[in-house]
Amino acid sequence: MRHFTNVRDIGDLQAAVAEALEIKRDRFAHQYLGRNKTLMMVFFNLSLRTRLSTQKAGMNLGMNVIVLDVNQGAWKLETERGVVMDGDKTEHLLEAIPVMGCYCDVIGVRAFAGLTDKKADYNEEVIGQFIRYGGRPVFSMEAATRHPLQSFADLITIEEYKKTERPKVVLTWAPHPKALPQAVPNSFAEWMNATDYDFVITHPEGYELAPEFVGNAHIEYDQRKAFEGADFIYAKNWSAYADPNYGLVINKDRAWTVDTEKMALTNNARFMHCLPVRRNMIVTDEVIEAPTSIVIPEAANREISAQVVIKRILEGL
Ligand code: CP
Repeated sequence: MRHFTNVRDIGDLQAAVAEALEIKRDRFAHQYLGRNKTLMMVFFNLSLRTRLSTQKAGMNLGMNVIVLDVNQGAWKLETERGVVMDGDKTEHLLEAIPVMGCYCDVIGVRAFAGLTDKKADYNEEVIGQFIRYGGRPVFSMEAATRHPLQSFADLITIEEYKKTERPKVVLTWAPHPKALPQAVPNSFAEWMNATDYDFVITHPEGYELAPEFVGNAHIEYDQRKAFEGADFIYAKNWSAYADPNYGLVINKDRAWTVDTEKMALTNNARFMHCLPVRRNMIVTDEVIEAPTSIVIPEAANREISAQVVIKRILEGL
């Protein structure tokens, strides 16, 4: 594997899950693969899980790890070409990226959508420049439109907990006070559409995701109807994708919060969320603390998904 930015880069999903479960059984089986190799993790945005799990994955593979928080301790970076740099940005990404590439063998990048320029976001301009100018394999630690390490961990978790071969998996929008990117729901939809699960997306009108991510998913605007018979409830907030509301919060309706009454409509569904989660906005205390909640094992699988991806990149060097 050279780069990892979407589901297609991982290839056969069954093989990827099998490899993940093998690594989970012995996460130090490849501890010399990354010897004398350096992983650089570049963060344009905050993180808890991605930062820790990806660093741990690199360490499990014997790598040295450098973490750069671009907005804390580095020169402020210009990302657009052609700009007269007479403002507060000292360095251009076009020099910074190849320089970073000089100091490492693999680069992980987190660069969220700005949510003001849909074209720039959906062109994946920041991670795209890392791929073009870094001279190193690049993997996404959440980019503008996708969060594939999260989705891979979600898939591993569903495979571990499913009770039927073809579970009903429901992605539900839930309220949040701030505008969030569509990366997690886009990516989750992309990965679920690559399985043969019964996949349903439910959201209020106006929160339709980009058609290329929705794919063949069944859209149900009635959240309660969507929950009926579900085996997995995957909650997430996202801002509007459709124009003219791109990047905006158009509804904070707490009638969409996942609660015990709605979970009772399901087939004793497991509750999932990528975290961090706003309690009693996205999901009630009762649901996230219930034995059916698998948010912690889901987060634990972030180490495993990252390790499969970095291992495959190292094998291709
Ligand atoms: N789920 C996830 O990516 O968490 P962080 O934003 O804390 O990394």
